[in-house]
Amino acid sequence: MCSPFFLKAVLLLAILIQMNAAGSSSNLLTDHVALLKIKSRITGDPHGVFKSWNDSLPLCMWRGVTCGRRHQRVTSLNLTGESLEGTLSPFLGNLSFLRSIVLDDNLFYGSIPPEISRLSRLQEVSFSNNSFTGEIPANVSSCSKLRVINLFSNKLSGKIPNIFSSLQMLKLLRLNINNFTGGIPPSIGNLTYLETLYLSENPLGGRILNTFSQLKELRELGLAGNGHVGAFPLFYSNLSMLQILSISQNQLHGNLPTNLCFSQPHLTILAINLNHLSGSLPQSISNCSELEIFEASDNYFKGGIKIDFGKLQKLQHLGLGPNNFESNPVDFKNLFDSLSNCSNLETLGLAKSQLIGVFPNSLGNFSSKLNYIGLLANYVSGSLPSSLGNLFGLAEINLVQNNFTGMIPESIGKLQNMEKLYLAYNAFSGVIPPSIGNLSFLYDLALGANKLEGTIPSTLSSCKKLICLGLYENNFRGSVPTEIFQLSSLSVSLDLSENNLSGTIPQEIGNLKMLGYLDLSENHLSGEIPSSLGSCISLQTLNISRNFFHGSMPEALGSLRGLEYLQDICKKWILPTYLQEMDLKFLDLSYNNFEGEVSVKGVFSNTTMILINGNSRLCAGIPELHLPKCKSNDSKRSTRKLSIRVVVAITLASTVVGLALVSFLLFYICVKRKINKPSDAQSTKSLEKISYGILFKATEGFSLNNLIGMGSFASVYKGILDESGFTVAIKVLKLYHQGGLGVLWPKYGLGNEVSTSGDIYSYGILLLEMMTGKNLSIQCLKKILDPLLLNEDVGEKGLITLVKIGVQCTSESPKDRMDIGTIVHELFLVTAATRS
Ligand SMILES: *[C@@H]1O[C@H](CO)[C@@H](O)[C@H](O)[C@H]1NC(C)=O
Ligand SMILES: *[C@@H]1O[C@H](CO)[C@@H](O)[C@H](O)[C@H]1NC(C)=O
Ligand SMILES: *[C@@H]1O[C@H](CO)[C@@H](O)[C@H](O)[C@H]1NC(C)=O
Ligand SMILES: *[C@@H]1O[C@H](CO)[C@@H](O)[C@H](O)[C@H]1NC(C)=O
Ligand SMILES: *[C@@H]1O[C@H](CO)[C@@H](O)[C@H](O)[C@H]1NC(C)=O
Ligand SMILES: *[C@@H]1O[C@H](CO)[C@@H](O)[C@H](O)[C@H]1NC(C)=O
Ligand SMILES: *[C@@H]1O[C@H](CO)[C@@H](O)[C@H](O)[C@H]1NC(C)=O
Ligand SMILES: *[C@@H]1O[C@H](CO)[C@@H](O)[C@H](O)[C@H]1NC(C)=O
Ligand SMILES: *[C@@H]1O[C@H](CO)[C@@H](O)[C@H](O)[C@H]1NC(C)=O
Ligand SMILES: *[C@@H]1O[C@H](CO)[C@@H](O)[C@H](O)[C@H]1NC(C)=O
Ligand SMILES: *[C@@H]1O[C@H](CO)[C@@H](O)[C@H](O)[C@H]1NC(C)=O
Ligand SMILES: *[C@@H]1O[C@H](CO)[C@@H](O)[C@H](O)[C@H]1NC(C)=O
Repeated sequence: MCSPFFLKAVLLLAILIQMNAAGSSSNLLTDHVALLKIKSRITGDPHGVFKSWNDSLPLCMWRGVTCGRRHQRVTSLNLTGESLEGTLSPFLGNLSFLRSIVLDDNLFYGSIPPEISRLSRLQEVSFSNNSFTGEIPANVSSCSKLRVINLFSNKLSGKIPNIFSSLQMLKLLRLNINNFTGGIPPSIGNLTYLETLYLSENPLGGRILNTFSQLKELRELGLAGNGHVGAFPLFYSNLSMLQILSISQNQLHGNLPTNLCFSQPHLTILAINLNHLSGSLPQSISNCSELEIFEASDNYFKGGIKIDFGKLQKLQHLGLGPNNFESNPVDFKNLFDSLSNCSNLETLGLAKSQLIGVFPNSLGNFSSKLNYIGLLANYVSGSLPSSLGNLFGLAEINLVQNNFTGMIPESIGKLQNMEKLYLAYNAFSGVIPPSIGNLSFLYDLALGANKLEGTIPSTLSSCKKLICLGLYENNFRGSVPTEIFQLSSLSVSLDLSENNLSGTIPQEIGNLKMLGYLDLSENHLSGEIPSSLGSCISLQTLNISRNFFHGSMPEALGSLRGLEYLQDICKKWILPTYLQEMDLKFLDLSYNNFEGEVSVKGVFSNTTMILINGNSRLCAGIPELHLPKCKSNDSKRSTRKLSIRVVVAITLASTVVGLALVSFLLFYICVKRKINKPSDAQSTKSLEKISYGILFKATEGFSLNNLIGMGSFASVYKGILDESGFTVAIKVLKLYHQGGLGVLWPKYGLGNEVSTSGDIYSYGILLLEMMTGKNLSIQCLKKILDPLLLNEDVGEKGLITLVKIGVQCTSESPKDRMDIGTIVHELFLVTAATRS
């Protein structure tokens, strides 16, 4: 039996023999030691890269290691994308023949060891997408052969050292997405071989230096999101090889040079959006014949758009709005005529650009690749040409807030890829063509505030992905097709208010279990309010005011514990006491014939949260309401007739966050409606407590037989209380469902208190459900998401971001969930990116 010591000794001997054979004596041993030291700092190696770094293999055969043929010394180290975790050993500096070290896409942290500067043969350093911190060691200036420095997406900070005068060979310098400060180091201007320079997304500040005019070979220049001030860089006209210029999201001001594209024949990407640039867009942009992406939105450009885009045959993305163009009808016609020549155009963003003109017939000649057209908030008139149906690539049209008239063409039904159709706030007339039912991918339809009439087509129920339907402020008449209330996909909003709709609300409304916002107000609806409305357990806003409902207010409504806004539900009714127990943020009961004792609790505790005027027979309440005292039979009556039959297991958090979530869904996914919201108040009231045991018994152990409703947020069970014999509705937030939301759902919050991370969780689930069109459980979540995330074809960056938000919001541990500020920021970026 060989002892381990003996084995090691033999191996060492073998190495020494090998070294002698190579004739490079102790230096190979130095490499050997250095590599083992590098290995020793790695704490995570999920792919087992370092298994092969053992003494039974010559080091030149170790995974990721390459040696020079003659000297058998390590010349390159490439450990890309191995998810390695650890720090980088200073022994790296002893691999003195190293020419290339590539560690992209790993989890290295800690600082870049300054010993790297000893590698005088080094040509390439690529550490992108890691978590390196600290500064770039200034003495790498001695690595004068460096051609590539790629450190993007790390956590490096401090000033970028001004060392580039001695790195004359540099061709690529990527320092983007770090935390560098202190401006652009002037010596970069000396890198006459530089082809690629990205410093984007660092809080650098300062001006863009004009010394860059010597960078004759520069092809890609990225300075976006650096907080730069000053004017559009003068050196630009000297960079005749330039293919990509991105200076988006800075604070640059002043005009663009009029000769913008005269000396840039190779330009493919020009991104100058999100600055303070002004003046007019130079006509010379027509000379950038290679341009694929031109993004100039969110500036202060004015003076019309006089560019002949028809010459830009490769144009794919054009983002010009918001700006202050004040284009006249002639410019507008020319713009659209010239764009119809761009056979590769995919997205056209012209929102908020002060465009005046008539929508041209030439639209039908646009590229069939056109995916998005955005004209939000302009002064465009005319009607939608029937040739619109040719543009079968369209996934989103946003014409909200213009002066469109005429009918929505029947041919719209040909746009099979349509997902978002926003035509609200125009003067469209006529009926909704039944062909709309062909749009099977449609998930957001906004036709509100037009002059549409006729009945609501029942074919809409074929739009099985619809999550948001806005038909408010039109002249629709007749009854609402029952099929609409079977569209269980509707999760964000159903707004049919301010029409002439008649008939009753069918029982089927109870199918809308995911719906958050329901507005049927100001119609001629009649009959009784169906008790099934109580099954719409995700409702946060309910407005059915100004109709002709009669009968009683269904007690089942008391189970809608998520409800925050409720507007006068029906007429002639004794004020139900369960209202005070609900987490309402606003209650409008004005001008009804309510009678009975007003509580001092819950929503009734604060005059800013209720409207109760025009109800002459109410009494008591808080003094600020100035109501009369109750006569003795008033109060008896209310206690006798209004026994509470709603017991609540857990309340939904009614915090500022809850409100913010609702408003964001409405704002970003639906076309915004003005909602008169009172300011938020933190609800601190306590609720009647009934033991779990009693509830367990009442519901026969939460048995399926007693399950009367189930939605995204909660399940509602029917139960009979032992003592009183009362029938009760018990709402159980799914997340709490861990007795038997095996643990099916992570904890709603920590402890018993309501928590905002719980709401964030729900929001995450909602987002995911919206995107997948599926009801989710944690088990199936991974199955759905994995292919979604891995699918390269998911072209939309936005979708990926949304999925990311969704996933992060649904983290197991509440503290890992995104905070609302981050969500808002992310959503803002998504909308900015997709709208512009
Ligand atoms: C050394 O690496 C080789 C190649 O990966 C592997 O086959 C062998 O099992 C390793 N030996 C040890 C002792 O890990
Ligand atoms: C590094 O290795 C990866 C695959 O492991 C390869 O795709 C990449 O081209 C290599 N990079 C260099 C600079 O050799
Ligand atoms: C290699 O590098 C380390 C740390 O930088 C140093 O301590 C050591 O002396 C160097 N030389 C050899 C032969 O390992
Ligand atoms: C960044 O590196 C991580 C860890 O190796 C990897 O999972 C991820 O895909 C990389 N990201 C990109 C954009 O390459
Ligand atoms: C750079 O600094 C490190 C540590 O301070 C040192 O080990 C190394 O030799 C220096 N490099 C040069 C080229 O002087
Ligand atoms: C960036 O650096 C500043 C100090 O310059 C520090 O306060 C901040 O936390 C850093 N940000 C990140 C994301 O590392
Ligand atoms: C560029 O290099 C020259 C010498 O090679 C030097 O005189 C000059 O100061 C450098 N310029 C900058 C901006 O570093
Ligand atoms: C940059 O271009 C301008 C004219 O376009 C010229 O006057 C100037 O000399 C050029 N600068 C360099 C450094 O080539
Ligand atoms: C720009 O295009 C116009 C025609 O639209 C042409 O007359 C002019 O010569 C071009 N300018 C340059 C510098 O290429
Ligand atoms: C349309 O494109 C062709 C080249 O395909 C070009 O010759 C023509 O001038 C363009 N028309 C307009 C109006 O720009
Ligand atoms: C366009 O619509 C706006 C309201 O959106 C209205 O104020 C304006 O008068 C309309 N202009 C024309 C020319 O119809
Ligand atoms: C009533 O609510 C408002 C906001 O909703 C709040 O500012 C005010 O302090 C509240 N008043 C009382 C007495 O709670």
